[in-house]
Amino acid sequence: MGKSNTDSYIQIAVDGPSASGKSSLARALAAHYGYIYIDTGALYRAVGLFVYRRGIDPGDERAVAAILNQIKVDIAYTDGVQQVYLCGENVSEEIREHIISRFASDVSAHVPVRAFLLGLQREIAAKNDVVMDGRDIGTVILPDAHVKIYLTASEEVRAMRRYKELSEKGQNVTLDTVRSDMRQRDLKDSTRAAAPAAAASDAVTIDSSFMTPAETLAAAVETADRKICKILKNKKYK
Ligand code: DC
Repeated sequence: MGKSNTDSYIQIAVDGPSASGKSSLARALAAHYGYIYIDTGALYRAVGLFVYRRGIDPGDERAVAAILNQIKVDIAYTDGVQQVYLCGENVSEEIREHIISRFASDVSAHVPVRAFLLGLQREIAAKNDVVMDGRDIGTVILPDAHVKIYLTASEEVRAMRRYKELSEKGQNVTLDTVRSDMRQRDLKDSTRAAAPAAAASDAVTIDSSFMTPAETLAAAVETADRKICKILKNKKYK
């Protein structure tokens, strides 16, 4: 049965830099609590892919803003796995190409792009218990999220993780390229004027450099359980 307007849904925000393990943690947390997992980076990647295919300079805010009305981004779930649709086409694989990471980061700096994707993100969170991962979830998208986690890891560990992930998919990259592209992208994401990537002041930081995925999940669940228990005790829920 659905909830009335006065019941609130639980929101867990997971933010952090590239390859910090956000999506693995957010997916595991969603499975743990039975919530919906929303990978917001995939939405920016879909916009980046559209711009890439059109041959538009992703840094040209005016040109990017001008084609937003031609873009339709949707998400759906197949066996619990998020699928991203760009104008009806499933682009879930293609948006993971290394080149699209840069396009996604470039287009995400533009205010019109952030405004374009804001409604979709908030709409989903208004109708479901969610675990949402991104860069500005705890600060801008869901500032009142019940649980906020900032997941980080050392640059070396993150570069190695991303390198392995891309190599396993058969993408032709070197560790050095991955490291320097990642460094540039994180710097750009955290210093842009519009909704820069940042930890919310009330976020709990977890450094996963020397933690296994299971240990990271356990640390996050400990934090989330404490907060969610308090909420459930204080209000009618479900
Ligand atoms: O998490 P990711 O690597 O798939 O994200 C791709 C880019 O999208 C990232 O470089 C910055 C941007 N992004 C953002 O600006 N805000 C978000 N909530 C999520 C991603």
